[in-house]
Amino acid sequence: MDTKLTRFGVSMEENLLKQFDEMINSKGYPSRSEAVRDFIRDALLQEKWALGDEIVAGTILLFYDHHSTNLVDEMMHIQHDYHEMVLASTHIHIDHNNCLEIIVVRGKPKLLKELSNRLIPLKGVFYGKLTVAPIAKN
Ligand code: NI
Repeated sequence: MDTKLTRFGVSMEENLLKQFDEMINSKGYPSRSEAVRDFIRDALLQEKWALGDEIVAGTILLFYDHHSTNLVDEMMHIQHDYHEMVLASTHIHIDHNNCLEIIVVRGKPKLLKELSNRLIPLKGVFYGKLTVAPIAKN
């Protein structure tokens, strides 16, 4: 592996950088460089698994407002379309309006991506994320 380091400049809004620094400090990163390297490695791994053919397992995280018209029905309907991949789901009432749903999934990355791509853009979902890792050891 090539270990030669290359420097590059990044421009961003001051406020974004401030938040980034606070986050990496709280996570205990010794430097911005180390944090950026770590995030890039994680993104590349996620992308590699997402494009691969290996069976993966993980979660789909969904934050949403349950008052949004038809949202809960629609989410249920979509999950049933992918029932072979949905191992479990947990619903937590965060407050009066907001819910957190954690769907545990297992299957081919392409299909899990397809499932999360149907859930996350639904109207009323304000944050969603698919996180997976391969089941088999490399
Ligand atoms: Ni709820």
